[in-house]
Amino acid sequence: MTEVINEPQDEVLLEVTDLKVHFPIKRGIVVDRTVGHVYAVDGVDLSIRRGETYGLVGESGCGKSTLGRAILRLSEPTAGKVVFDGTDVAQLKGEKLRKARRRMQMIFQDPMSSLDPRQPVESILLEGMRAHGLAKDKAATDQRLRELLGAVGLPETALRKYPHEFSGGQRQRIGIARALAVEPDLIVADEPVSALDVSVQAQVVNLLEDLQNELGLTYVVIAHDLAVVRHISDRIGVMYLGALVEETTSAELYENPLHPYTRALLSAIPVPDPVVEDTREQILLAGDLPSPANPPTGCRFHTRCPWRQASLCDTDRPQLREIGAGHRVACHYAEDIRDGRIQPHDVEPELVELTGVLSPDAAPDIGTITEIL
Ligand SMILES: Nc1ncnc2c1ncn2[C@@H]1O[C@H](COP(=O)(O)OP(=O)(O)OP(=O)(O)O)[C@@H](O)[C@H]1O
Ligand code: SF4
Ligand SMILES: [Mg+2]
Repeated sequence: MTEVINEPQDEVLLEVTDLKVHFPIKRGIVVDRTVGHVYAVDGVDLSIRRGETYGLVGESGCGKSTLGRAILRLSEPTAGKVVFDGTDVAQLKGEKLRKARRRMQMIFQDPMSSLDPRQPVESILLEGMRAHGLAKDKAATDQRLRELLGAVGLPETALRKYPHEFSGGQRQRIGIARALAVEPDLIVADEPVSALDVSVQAQVVNLLEDLQNELGLTYVVIAHDLAVVRHISDRIGVMYLGALVEETTSAELYENPLHPYTRALLSAIPVPDPVVEDTREQILLAGDLPSPANPPTGCRFHTRCPWRQASLCDTDRPQLREIGAGHRVACHYAEDIRDGRIQPHDVEPELVELTGVLSPDAAPDIGTITEIL
């Protein structure tokens, strides 16, 4: 295969506008009543260029997977637009939706539960190819299966084996081969390495990068670990309670984080130099992540924000706005924080009020700061 070095192009492949996914919370013994909503994704705008890797990070329960699934129309959006290569996917039905889905694939967090244990690898790979009419000629199909295994670094003998016969890293390679089998343009990789040992994580991340360079793929890589997305992402979007709070290039996010939440996330990453580690300032987030069924008013981060101000923060929801070239931040005071005009202060942890309507299965997994990093 000739190597095409994949540089992000100017052409926009995916445009998401004001996307919302609200899950109804049902109660009732005889008749189900909707008693509230989980605002899992609540107004996301993003634009991804062909060939780009976009990293999406945030605490557990902030809506990353729901956003990824809504982009691929695996979750039905409540509102908003998802335009993929010029077509509004949210409006597609039937055959047109099926065709669009071939071009957008997902790699899942847990390779064990996302691969059918009763099927050998060959059937797992053929399933999507058959569904999309890509497995008609036997010789060409066999050749394609061999190519796919070669591309993800597995031997041909893997075809006859079952998922449980592989290690975690190998299983994730099968998940990647399954996504590649239908020749997608966009891959949403949902926590592709978080179930793997640290030693294997780098191999799988490198494989994703190599495949992107060879095949010109566009990626959305979801992670709760900023360290995972840092090196592979061209740009990173930070999510908090259903919305993006900051978005910029990977380098700029690390050098110049502007949103208080991003600053807290980055300040919790240990620095290898012990002298720097002992002296650097850490921003510890007070309080729990509020419930997405009852998000705070105004800025959703105000209950935990060390820079919270008396006006606007509690009452007006900040929009994502461009502060520097290609650097978008959703904070009323981003410029004042950047220029040091306002300083962080202690935060009294607020009691997070549970609405009493949140059903146990809709309850978010609340992550701690150490889990995020
Ligand atoms: N099908 C569903 N019905 C009701 N609530 C849901 C559903 N799917 C997700 N949620 C809720 O939506 C919120 C966002 O969930 P989501 O899985 O998107 O978060 P996440 O950022 O991917 O978290 P994690 O890092 O744990 O994977 C959570 O509160 C979750 O409980
Ligand atoms: S708007 Fe206010 S509460 Fe929200 S991040 Fe900015 S300073 Fe903090
Ligand atoms: Mg998730």
